[in-house]
Amino acid sequence: MRTTLSIIKADIGSIGGHIKPSRQLLERTREFVINSGKGLIDDIYVSHTGDDIALLFSHQKGTGNEDVHKLAWDAFLEGTKVAKEQGLYGAGQDLLKDAFSGNVKGMGPAVAEMEIEERPNEPFLFFAADKTDPGAYNLPLYLAFSDPMFCPGLMLSPKMGKGFTFHIMDVEYTEGDRIIELNTPEDIYDIASLLRDNEKFVIESIYSRENGEIAVSVSTSRLHNIAGKYTGKDDPVSLVRVQGNFPATGEVLSPYSIGHYVAGFMRGSHIGPLMPVKINSPVSYFDGPPIVTCHAFCVHNCKFTEPADTFDHPFWDYVRDKISRKALELREQGFSGAAMLPYSELEYGGIVERLERLDKLFKVR
Ligand code: 13P
Ligand code: 13P
Ligand code: MG
Ligand code: MG
Repeated sequence: MRTTLSIIKADIGSIGGHIKPSRQLLERTREFVINSGKGLIDDIYVSHTGDDIALLFSHQKGTGNEDVHKLAWDAFLEGTKVAKEQGLYGAGQDLLKDAFSGNVKGMGPAVAEMEIEERPNEPFLFFAADKTDPGAYNLPLYLAFSDPMFCPGLMLSPKMGKGFTFHIMDVEYTEGDRIIELNTPEDIYDIASLLRDNEKFVIESIYSRENGEIAVSVSTSRLHNIAGKYTGKDDPVSLVRVQGNFPATGEVLSPYSIGHYVAGFMRGSHIGPLMPVKINSPVSYFDGPPIVTCHAFCVHNCKFTEPADTFDHPFWDYVRDKISRKALELREQGFSGAAMLPYSELEYGGIVERLERLDKLFKVR
């Protein structure tokens, strides 16, 4: 059976700052997609990660389908009405265009989709991150799909020995999707050379070289490239198929124990460690730390099982303690050097204006 998995995610308002959506906002959005998605969508799952609401759909319409995208867009508009009624912070924050034009890509919401031939058992993971950007998935995906230190399946499973093809996007290029395709294992130094720059080069998708099937899809939008100014971070979502020709669930999860430093955190302008948290978690300290949730599902005949919450386990409490320490250690140096993003990435216009004003006051001796 050809099944399409679509995640469409947006921040349309939150309570108490950029923390989490209200219950009423989530409920209205959920009701809207359930009622309006009849006959179009086979199954729906609605969740939030920090202040972002993610709609996970299964359907048979293929990727980039106008009706599916319009359903999500209209649901976010409906939700924004509630956000305005309740006076939520940042109502409609990620809806950057006034009118829907065929596809929500480039309009503010983050999108990750894949069309698959369902295996007899089809386990997959749905990641959602808040207070960071799409490059946050670069390192965990690189390690899970190319490094036997994290993915012993690359050595142990005959189905993965041929490696994977990485599609990497230059997200600074705005004229279109600028993509390079590179293969593991032979191109891993080239892949690493690109992926070290998380703000410019982002994994868009990964394919099995065993059978050409899609394994990974990541949302690659950069909001500040769409809006031309700061409108919140590009809080990214991703889909990862697991088992069989793909890494095992635990192999995909294992790099999240690192808590690697990513862009985002307070005002989208800092560096902080990525913390794996339970589903429907809010953010807190310093509008962070950057968080990631992971739902594990099986999909069968286009219907989802209930999700398993992969980061809800005592092991991750220990990891979260370590990551809290990493967050505090970097925060001790405030605005200095590596704690903050470089000038080119500073999301708030204020400092740019300030530095332009100061620039005029310099005198050359
Ligand atoms: P099971 O034997 O429990 O199916 O596990 C196999 C496996 O690959 C775990 O990583
Ligand atoms: P969001 O991108 O999650 O809305 O966060 C914006 C922000 O400025 C947090 O401090
Ligand atoms: Mg927000
Ligand atoms: Mg957010």
